[in-house]
Amino acid sequence: MIIGLGDLGSAVLEFLARAPGMGPIVVASRDAGRGERRVNLARAGATAQGFAPSIRFVRVDLEAPGELAEVVARERPEIILSTATRQTWWLPSLLPPEHAARLRRARFGVWLPLHLSLTLKLMRELRTANYRGITLTAPFPDVVNAVLDKLGLAPDCGVGNVEEIATKVRLTAAQNLQQPVRHLRVILVAHHALVSPAFEGSSGPLPPYFLRVFCGGEDLTEQAGGEQLLRVPYALPPGAAINFLTAGCTLRLIRALCQEEETAVHAPAPEGLPGGYPLLASASGIRLAPIDGLTHEQAVALNEASHCFDGIERIESDGTTVFCQPDADILREALGYDASSLKPEDADDRAEELMAKLREFARRTGVDLDQAWQTARLS
Ligand SMILES: NC(=O)c1ccc[n+]([C@@H]2O[C@H](COP(=O)([O-])OP(=O)(O)OC[C@H]3O[C@@H](n4cnc5c(N)ncnc54)[C@H](OP(=O)(O)O)[C@@H]3O)[C@@H](O)[C@H]2O)c1
Repeated sequence: MIIGLGDLGSAVLEFLARAPGMGPIVVASRDAGRGERRVNLARAGATAQGFAPSIRFVRVDLEAPGELAEVVARERPEIILSTATRQTWWLPSLLPPEHAARLRRARFGVWLPLHLSLTLKLMRELRTANYRGITLTAPFPDVVNAVLDKLGLAPDCGVGNVEEIATKVRLTAAQNLQQPVRHLRVILVAHHALVSPAFEGSSGPLPPYFLRVFCGGEDLTEQAGGEQLLRVPYALPPGAAINFLTAGCTLRLIRALCQEEETAVHAPAPEGLPGGYPLLASASGIRLAPIDGLTHEQAVALNEASHCFDGIERIESDGTTVFCQPDADILREALGYDASSLKPEDADDRAEELMAKLREFARRTGVDLDQAWQTARLS
């Protein structure tokens, strides 16, 4: 079951519809008209390509108490992937360049309420439904799921981020070593905060990470380029197009969860841990892969220490998240949005306020953000 049929959910749906051996796919989102059209498109495209997927749309609003719990109790999905969010991450990039650049100086963590709000509702609904299957989530899992863990509501795992970086590293190492990419195995512990530097390129300080590159069982990390593998740019198109990469990572994890044998993958936030890890996934579940040369405690500590590279100073024991002051200051000065911390129970109100203030700011710069988004998104 895919919950949230925005750009990422739609990309995952298109890939799932073409994945051999998949069972029935149920798609749940609020906008029934758009949802039915997207389901028709995925079904028709996959059928044209020679597949015969079973896909259905059901209308679900995560803000309507009990609605998702009822659908889940009825449909009994084995795997749930939620991509539902109040606002996509790339919306501020639609502002005029100087204003977009001003907001971009605030690191991603300060947008936390937008990504936490619906994931918290999702997990409460699944608790009500006594759901026992696997739950995967896309919205900023490196931090959101670590917050939810403090409330005893962590999803099984996130998707994307660390696997996106590991894929870029594998491609770059293969090129440097002049080896086919399938010969390379990457072990990476890394946080969402490393995604931008790893793709855009960086000569500055990187968030802490652990990286090993193996070729034919031999550790060739340094010969492959060492830290440069993370620093050299790997240019991608802006905005929603990156969802094809995230969807590829997500499909790898979902397919692993459908097989008896374990597959080595990477994903963020297994069991609500901060940041991303190498994992072993199969139909029996997801577990952390043992790492030669790094203990579990060291891996977690390294990801904890990465939070501040995303503008997050700390997550307290009740899930309250304290933001780094310079990042909070940028939103306060630009938008008039004042938040140096976020309590989970305030996520809805803070998300509403942040969205309203961003749109107000955009209007002052001459941009209708919602209209710009409708034009820029994939559908
Ligand atoms: N982990 C990663 O590597 C990675 C990569 C890319 C994106 N992301 C994250 O994935 C999330 C989705 O991104 P996106 O670009 O796909 O965003 P998007 O296009 O805005 O899609 C989000 C969807 O959520 C649905 N939604 C909103 N409110 C809902 C509600 N109350 N109940 C049910 N569904 C609701 C909406 O569909 P309806 O209007 O039909 O309800 C909307 O289309 C974001 O948090 C983004 O940051 C993560």
